[in-house]
Amino acid sequence: MISNGMAARINAQLNRELYSAYFYLGLSAQAETMNLKGIAAWFMAKQNEELTHGMLMYRYLIDQSATIALSAIAAPPADTEGVLTMFQRTLSHEREVTAAINDLVDQALSEKDHATHIFLHWFVTEQIEEESTLNDILGRLRLFGDQGQGLLMIDNELAALAKQMTQAAAKQPAPGV
Ligand SMILES: [Fe+2]
Ligand SMILES: [Fe+2]
Repeated sequence: MISNGMAARINAQLNRELYSAYFYLGLSAQAETMNLKGIAAWFMAKQNEELTHGMLMYRYLIDQSATIALSAIAAPPADTEGVLTMFQRTLSHEREVTAAINDLVDQALSEKDHATHIFLHWFVTEQIEEESTLNDILGRLRLFGDQGQGLLMIDNELAALAKQMTQAAAKQPAPGV
């Protein structure tokens, strides 16, 4: 069993992961309106990943006999300001999530809560990968351009990536069940 304080913080992170899913869903919808099918598919695949992260938190709380406290999920930004802005915004969002995960690790360490500390390892590693992927996409958008041929190329690349992500997700059992 974990402390009430630790459980409250993981509950807050569960909400943040569900918000992340909503955030990506909003970006997927924006990409659809721009006819960027590959980018829309990539954001949708990310949306699924974030739901999975949320469910990992949910299952961990239940396994630790903590009470689940679901709160309202904020609306994501609705405006479209171009593809470069979409990915810049995504990177800053993921950096905030990384900071939140690091805070959770600090809390687990301060409470000598080894179980939560180990549970959080996966999220620490995941955030490295998420930020790295976004840096790659942003680098390529800056190099090849966020319009015309450059954008078409990145849209195609993200279509392929989204397909890989969807196939990988299909092979894993859903957490939380
Ligand atoms: Fe996440
Ligand atoms: Fe994420």
